[in-house]
Amino acid sequence: MIKITNVSKEYISGEVKTTALDNVSLEIQDGEFLSILGMSGSGKTTLLNLIGGLDKPTSGEILIDGINYLSLNDKEASKFRNENIGYIFQLFYLEPSFTVFENVSIPLIIGGKRKKDYESRVFELLQMVSLGNKANKLVSNLSGGEKQRVCIARALANDPKYILADEPTGSLDSVNGEAVLEYLKLLNMKNKTIIFITHNEDFAKKYSNRIISLKDGKIVQYENNK
Ligand SMILES: Nc1ncnc2c1ncn2[C@@H]1O[C@H](COP(=O)(O)OP(=O)(O)OP(=O)(O)O)[C@@H](O)[C@H]1O
Ligand SMILES: [Mg+2]
Repeated sequence: MIKITNVSKEYISGEVKTTALDNVSLEIQDGEFLSILGMSGSGKTTLLNLIGGLDKPTSGEILIDGINYLSLNDKEASKFRNENIGYIFQLFYLEPSFTVFENVSIPLIIGGKRKKDYESRVFELLQMVSLGNKANKLVSNLSGGEKQRVCIARALANDPKYILADEPTGSLDSVNGEAVLEYLKLLNMKNKTIIFITHNEDFAKKYSNRIISLKDGKIVQYENNK
């Protein structure tokens, strides 16, 4: 379970202070499929980055299964993240000069596994996202939809309990976008907790069991969807 209590995040650059999140509290139960809607700049990515431990709150507390990132040193926090959180980014953040296979292997290598131990796992993941025949292709030569599927496979490498997806369909056409959501749905059925940021209200309604909306760093609307 994820427990967010009175979390604020301020960014200061020069004279300008931006309150990206303003006293947000939220509980996310295990097995939920939560969608986060909101206009550009409303704080969605900031919230996801705090949950993913990629950034620290200015105030307030985030507990993931009772653990606060702030109580861990950098090495412990990286390990915790690598084992428990799968992050699917809008901008992919893949290594363009690596192959599909190598990109998906990264979390397993970080986790200390050797190639002979993770090879079959990587192929299993690539089969799942229908990229089994592209394992040795360079990522820079893939289409947008294929790149997003590599991201999904990479996010799942260590079988994390939490999947954080920041507009994973944002740069895809509707067919590829729907395919990404179908993968997320499959994972949710396997009891993974999904947190899904989107501008697409139809996807949010079709796939998630709860929707929240952010505005100016505050939660303005909750909707139980199913
Ligand atoms: N590193 C940063 N430094 C300064 N300001 C930032 C930083 N990151 C985000 N912000 C500001 O915080 C606010 C929230 O940004 P955030 O990226 O969370 O929005 P978002 O809801 O994800 O928007 P989008 O839909 O465009 O991705 C914005 O006003 C943004 O300009
Ligand atoms: Mg964003």
